[in-house]
Amino acid sequence: MYQAVYSGKISGNGIYTRKCHEFFEKKYNFRRALLTTSCTDALEMTAMLANIQPGDEVIIPSYTFVSTALAFVRQGAKIIFVDSSSKNPNMDVSLVEAMITPRTKAIVPVHYAGIACDMDAIMNLAQKYNLLVIEDAAQAIDSFYKGIPLGSIGHMSAFSFHETKNINSGEGGMLVINDEKLMKRSEIIWEKGTNRSEFFRGEVNKYGWVDTGSSFLP
Ligand SMILES: Cc1ncc(COP(=O)(O)O)c(C=O)c1O
Repeated sequence: MYQAVYSGKISGNGIYTRKCHEFFEKKYNFRRALLTTSCTDALEMTAMLANIQPGDEVIIPSYTFVSTALAFVRQGAKIIFVDSSSKNPNMDVSLVEAMITPRTKAIVPVHYAGIACDMDAIMNLAQKYNLLVIEDAAQAIDSFYKGIPLGSIGHMSAFSFHETKNINSGEGGMLVINDEKLMKRSEIIWEKGTNRSEFFRGEVNKYGWVDTGSSFLP
């Protein structure tokens, strides 16, 4: 903390933020990690990145925390609730296919209490119907599905570092991007719709406003 404060750079995307990104990317095989101020923020970013439009449908479990739905409702999505499995509060994947329509954009499995959803079945459906899978892994850091870290399987995922979680920063979260096509835009949305991250890496000689976004970085 002393080093962070006396480095003179305590705003977002500093050395310790980048160390966290590298740590999580390496340890859990995430393609790209971006710290956020909450999991709710990370979920809002996924809704923007999925380009959810009014009337698009998003399939989520009926048993979850409010943020899973809120992030998509803010973009105008119609939420389609799937009932829980008889074994645990996670979505009953056998019910999902019947709920898919031409308006369906994404499936959002929640790994409740770190218990993995049936990701093979969910990814198969996503491939068959060309849908995005966004893992709400708020409660699932260091949890695994068949030995694979949760959050590394879907196109995107969101983690929470809220006080109630196994790793916490008081309030905090993380967006994970596993789909190469979404990576560039994720950084821009993270930085208020600007290409400031590219500027800081010396890839462009000035930065500007290029897209939508918000101030999602901690
Ligand atoms: C499943 C789920 N999604 C999202 C969230 C929101 O997390 P945060 O408080 O970091 O915004 C929580 C918080 O408990 C959660 O349990």
